[in-house]
Amino acid sequence: MSDIILKTVGLYKQFGALSAVDHATIDFKQSEVHVIIGPNGAGKTTLINLLSGDLLPTGGTIHYKDQEITDLPPDQISLLGIGRSYQKTNIFPEFTCKENCWLAGQSRQGSSMKFFKAASRLKEVHVRAEKGLEMAGLTSQANTVASAMSYGEQRQLEIAMMLATEPDLLLLDEPLAGMGTEEATEVTKLIKKLSEDHTIILIEHDMDAVFAVADTLTVMVNGAVLETGTPEQIRASKAVQEAYLGDEDGDH
Ligand SMILES: Nc1ncnc2c1ncn2[C@@H]1O[C@H](COP(=O)(O)OP(=O)(O)OP(=O)(O)O)[C@@H](O)[C@H]1O
Ligand SMILES: [Mg+2]
Repeated sequence: MSDIILKTVGLYKQFGALSAVDHATIDFKQSEVHVIIGPNGAGKTTLINLLSGDLLPTGGTIHYKDQEITDLPPDQISLLGIGRSYQKTNIFPEFTCKENCWLAGQSRQGSSMKFFKAASRLKEVHVRAEKGLEMAGLTSQANTVASAMSYGEQRQLEIAMMLATEPDLLLLDEPLAGMGTEEATEVTKLIKKLSEDHTIILIEHDMDAVFAVADTLTVMVNGAVLETGTPEQIRASKAVQEAYLGDEDGDH
């Protein structure tokens, strides 16, 4: 069998006249950390939104395992085992960490309302919520109200919420954004750990983190895929240096 778990073929998304994602054909391999980099506005978040079902493509197709998932809604994509975190924090601030994870875990239940199944399912959700907190290193904060935590911890909580849905494949949109050095190091370690038993598609601007975790890199510019390769290939690529990595200050 193929080791490609997720694949886009000629995927595109237009907003009016703008091609935010421009005929992107990308293979994502099972068990890899595949990082997507590119300047602001390159279309990275839009690509993730298409993969998670939050946006419908204008054209092209998306395939997960042996199934075409191009037009599926987000809840069905989540049920298939694709979890995502958002670039902007997406938690309920007045709820505790555990409650936030519980709510997220519940979304993986499907829509059956059969009464007899309800009790055992509730228990399953609790187990999943606790597992998500543990994997994200937040067990000691289970009963802390989310708004009382630091920004970095809230981003970690978001990862815990995603893990509470027990995904196989993680879509992470700038999980280190807005974090201090220490928090960023912690979350980079967490991503590395999660990569042992998950396939990960990561958008990240922090180049130290990118090169610390990436198996494969895709560079996007103006909605299109400029190049895909190993970190060494991308570092050595003239086209990438000119379009992106060559920025004097490494910022953009
Ligand atoms: N809902 C929308 N409606 C109209 N235009 C949009 C919408 N979402 C994104 N865009 C535009 O599509 C382009 C790609 O945006 P996107 O957010 O995918 O970029 P990005 O690579 O994630 O950037 P950043 O690094 O700043 O997060 C941008 O020009 C953006 O302004
Ligand atoms: Mg973005």
